[in-house]
Amino acid sequence: MTNISTHTMVATQGLTKQYGSVSALDGVDLTVPGGTIYALLGPNGAGKTTTINILTTLAQPSAGSAQVAGFDVVRQPDEVRKRIGVTFQDLVLDPDLTGRQVLDIHGRLYRQPTSLRRQRIDELVALVQLNDAIDRLVKTYSGGMKRRLELARGLMTDPQVVFLDEPTQGLDPQNRATIWDYVRMLRRERGLTLLLTTHYMEEAEALADTVGIIDGGRKVAEGTPSALVAALGADRIRISGSGDASHLLSELRALPFVDSVTPFERGLEVGVDSGSRRIAEVVASASGNGFTVEDVSVLRPSLGDVFLQYTGRALRD
Ligand SMILES: Nc1ncnc2c1ncn2[C@@H]1O[C@H](COP(=O)(O)OP(=O)(O)O)[C@@H](O)[C@H]1O
Ligand SMILES: [Mg+2]
Repeated sequence: MTNISTHTMVATQGLTKQYGSVSALDGVDLTVPGGTIYALLGPNGAGKTTTINILTTLAQPSAGSAQVAGFDVVRQPDEVRKRIGVTFQDLVLDPDLTGRQVLDIHGRLYRQPTSLRRQRIDELVALVQLNDAIDRLVKTYSGGMKRRLELARGLMTDPQVVFLDEPTQGLDPQNRATIWDYVRMLRRERGLTLLLTTHYMEEAEALADTVGIIDGGRKVAEGTPSALVAALGADRIRISGSGDASHLLSELRALPFVDSVTPFERGLEVGVDSGSRRIAEVVASASGNGFTVEDVSVLRPSLGDVFLQYTGRALRD
């Protein structure tokens, strides 16, 4: 087997999509190395589904270009389709088929011989743990089971690149965690390249090697989750208690690793280079002199703060 992990598996250059006067995508550049998980994180209307649609050859770009597994999505759509799996944001499962029929029909569409279809179905049903339900009608499935069936269908053709458009939208935390496990396993055990979209920052944080923050059709930031968060700087140590904290302000500000001290009603918030390393020293400096520490917590910036920083809006607006 060739080592695909050193190659770029998804790339776009200046990808642009106009719907009439609406600019759904406005010059997006992406590079996703093989064997990695890339998450496009953004609010509704950011352009996530449009990106997936173009990369899976369902929509044509207005300008710019894109390649998947080395093939151009506009000029070589058949080569692209042979190498990808997709799950859509809106479930497109026929409720009056059994799970097995859904998978079988998909294999037939790709002209897989019967023996191969059977083998794949057995393997994928075990993978997504639908053994007990696979011969029941889809309309009897829970939301989590439908998502798992969709994932299995996306894998029927043994793809190199898998696109997941909001794979856990509407799922409860337990079902979400199950899907996350499958996604990680696909990367780890099969070396798949995955591009997923999400408006859940915890999902991007939990899964992605690289996160691209997208807003209004533009990529506004990109990096590993930890690098994006680290670029925001400081952890904050929040100390609350009783007594007079005002004289602590200058004392704490004088410490070399403190970059801000903000008072609030019952205490102080102290910006430091590392919350876990500095907590003891900050608490020691804050105690005494008429102030009694009652509660301490370390606040880490999250991808939500990163989103706010780059867009001026909260992700969940
Ligand atoms: N088929 C379409 N016709 C007209 N406008 C569209 C169409 N598809 C998407 N849009 C618009 O393009 C923008 C991006 O949509 P979309 O890619 O679905 O965003 P997301 O998936 O991030 O929520 C939105 O403003 C949306 O209304
Ligand atoms: Mg969408």
